Amino acid sequence: MTLSIHPIDPVSRPFFGGEASGIDITQPLTKEQAAEIEKGMDEFGVMVFHDQRFTDATQMAFSRNFGELELATNNLRDSKEQRLGLHIADISNLDANNNVLARENRRRLFSLGTRLWHSDSSFKVVPAKYSLLSARVIPSKDGNTEFADMRAAYDALDDATRAECEGLVCEHSQLFSRAQIGFGDFTEAERLAFAPVQQRLIRTHPSTGRKSLYLASHAGTIVGWPVPEARAFLRDLIEHATQRKFVYAHAWKPFDLVVWDNQATMHRSRPFDATQVRDMHRTTVAGTRSTMAEAA
Ligand code: OGA
Ligand code: MN
Repeated sequence: MTLSIHPIDPVSRPFFGGEASGIDITQPLTKEQAAEIEKGMDEFGVMVFHDQRFTDATQMAFSRNFGELELATNNLRDSKEQRLGLHIADISNLDANNNVLARENRRRLFSLGTRLWHSDSSFKVVPAKYSLLSARVIPSKDGNTEFADMRAAYDALDDATRAECEGLVCEHSQLFSRAQIGFGDFTEAERLAFAPVQQRLIRTHPSTGRKSLYLASHAGTIVGWPVPEARAFLRDLIEHATQRKFVYAHAWKPFDLVVWDNQATMHRSRPFDATQVRDMHRTTVAGTRSTMAEAA
């Protein structure tokens, strides 16, 4: 069999969210196969691969077809708490002994920030390209991940709003996203590490040249704007960009791998029974430039 990619919802979202079949991506890929997947990503923004029995090693090998891996830091974990390797973001509710985290656990509360719409690593100077999330253990129900098409959201802006967004620069930090859920339990060292970075509000995709809105819960100010006005404006834009017509909700099965392009999408996690195990492993492919390096 060979790789084929079909829209998940051909009627309402023919250009967002593709389901791949006919390929075992836990095995080494040819250059042609990797290029086909990258082309699919450029078209669909999000791709779903079912029944891919990844180990962390094979997940890293697959991910490296698309660029360098980010280090999985910035998650409040010190080395003795680290459950997974340095290139695997631990998107689970487990501690180093594989026990479910207590309700009040600091890292659990911090990770609830993923419930807000965001783009991974927008708080880094060079933000992420792809995130690749592998479902190892999922709860018996709920815990979906939702994705929003930021290209479609940009295209659907009215002319006045698009003109207002033109040339604007936002500041992104995990301090801003966590403040929104009332989490402020940071050490001084963490506050320094989470210093804001600048990103354009309208970005241009490095491979397709398409424009999209670059929004995230991490965006806390617009350079040159009063903060309350910036926050209100960004909130309206996020509301616009996450209308149901722009959103694909992924209901996980064990060993699904979902790949999303952070350069063209936002995503958020949905709630689930926190006494059940949800164990997801994420690799993240680094981008190649800051959005500030793109033409305004
Ligand atoms: C992520 C993330 C959402 C989820 O892995 O970057 O935001 O549903 N995950 O776990
Ligand atoms: Mn995320």
